Amino acid sequence: MRRSDCFGYRCPALAVFTFLAIASCIPVERQQESPSRPDSVLGSAIDAETLRRARQHSPLPALPASPTNRWADDERAAILGQFLFFDRRLSANGEVSCSTCHDPELSFADGKQLAQGLEVGPRHTPSLWNVAYNRWFFWDGRADTLWSQALGPLESEVEHGMSRVAIAALIRQDPDLRGAYEAVFGALPHSERPEDIDRLFVNVGKAMEAYERKLISRSSRFDRFIAEEESGSSEVNAALTSSELRGLSLFVGAANCRLCHAGPLFSDREFHDTRVPLLDGHRPPDSGRYGGIRSLLGAEFRGAGPFGDDPEHSMPEPVLRGETWGEFKTPTLRNVAKTGPYMHQGQLESLRDVVHFYSTLENARPPHDHGEVTMVPLELSASEIDDIVAFLGTLTDESIDAELLKPLASPLIH
Ligand code: HEC
Ligand code: HEC
Repeated sequence: MRRSDCFGYRCPALAVFTFLAIASCIPVERQQESPSRPDSVLGSAIDAETLRRARQHSPLPALPASPTNRWADDERAAILGQFLFFDRRLSANGEVSCSTCHDPELSFADGKQLAQGLEVGPRHTPSLWNVAYNRWFFWDGRADTLWSQALGPLESEVEHGMSRVAIAALIRQDPDLRGAYEAVFGALPHSERPEDIDRLFVNVGKAMEAYERKLISRSSRFDRFIAEEESGSSEVNAALTSSELRGLSLFVGAANCRLCHAGPLFSDREFHDTRVPLLDGHRPPDSGRYGGIRSLLGAEFRGAGPFGDDPEHSMPEPVLRGETWGEFKTPTLRNVAKTGPYMHQGQLESLRDVVHFYSTLENARPPHDHGEVTMVPLELSASEIDDIVAFLGTLTDESIDAELLKPLASPLIH
């Protein structure tokens, strides 16, 4: 059990709470098998405690504000961001765009184990559904705002391999891009001074964020099921099958997935070590959150830095602690059935493999010294694994304005 360190952040009151919460939630002993329920497809077949817990996962609340980005909800910025998201000119070889890896046809992921831009990178591409609800970005949380996150891949040598100077030149030279930029952010700087180039580069990130904030998934069958349960409607359209219901009650009950996959995002937005085995034995160990905190503390672009639009806004300051070594961010499970393979290296092929891993902890990496010890083999039966996988399938909702899924012909609103 990790000590009261509040997942690596300095917040003593919450730390005690977290400690107690984890202590009381650890699935040390599995709960008694629940008596077999009537094989009904109606929501009423689910017991009151399961339903109470299930309600904590739906509905998805309104999108939180993004105080460090003045243009976060600016429509023209979102159009410019969408245009740039698909624009391959933002790469050293003219072939890579954000959508190369975050492909709307693949649920904003890429279906690969490890991301491939200019080269193969060290980690798996996460999907971007509901990304604006996150508190930290990347698997290791090394960015604290969505706009600063976007600047990373652009200058990464294995992803876009661009430079901010080249991006500034592109925007200056393309009349449409220039017009769209100036309509949102004002006149382009005349000078090539580094601080002017940095400002332009940051604004590209802010436009990308405005687009990404629209990638919302909130109407899964699970959400409709909960809404119908809440309203007591007799018209049951979103019924879950008995297998999905059993999966739900395992998820919030005996299997205790909700310990980390908490709330409407199905993520506590924090970092844990699931001890999932690495892709192959030869890769250098990935320090995960530990390296993420180090990077964030030294980051050039941060919410609280000179490019954040709300200097009064206090961002939580992570504390570098050894226990955070090897921890990765809890991913959302919304649309998870669409975004395999799974985990930070894509090391597990299918959802069945993921749940099987939690069930057996087969080949698990040893827990890190002083790390949290929350993982115990769940020892699920084959049909319980099927049930959890079936439940995860009810979290799918890819219905979104089709206009958001494709490259735009122009970055300007016509
Ligand atoms: C070469 C593939 C690739 C390209 C190109 C790429 N990404 Fe990513 N993206 C990734 C990978 C891999 C990660 C996780 C990296 C990590 O954790 O270190 C990631 C992480 C993210 C995240 C964080 C998600 C989260 O839940 O924390 C966002 C947001 C994101 N990318 C947006 C973008 C944007 C915007 C662009 C274009 C400017 C872009 N990506 C270009 C592969 C890519
Ligand atoms: C101790 C916290 C914790 C618990 C308990 C937990 N998870 Fe996770 N889960 C995580 C973290 C952290 C990751 C990412 C790990 C990584 O990439 O190394 C993850 C990854 C996943 C993924 C892969 C998602 C993706 O996009 O790659 C799925 C699916 C998943 N968990 C489902 C479950 C289910 C089902 C349960 C219950 C049987 C469960 N989790 C229990 C923390 C937890």
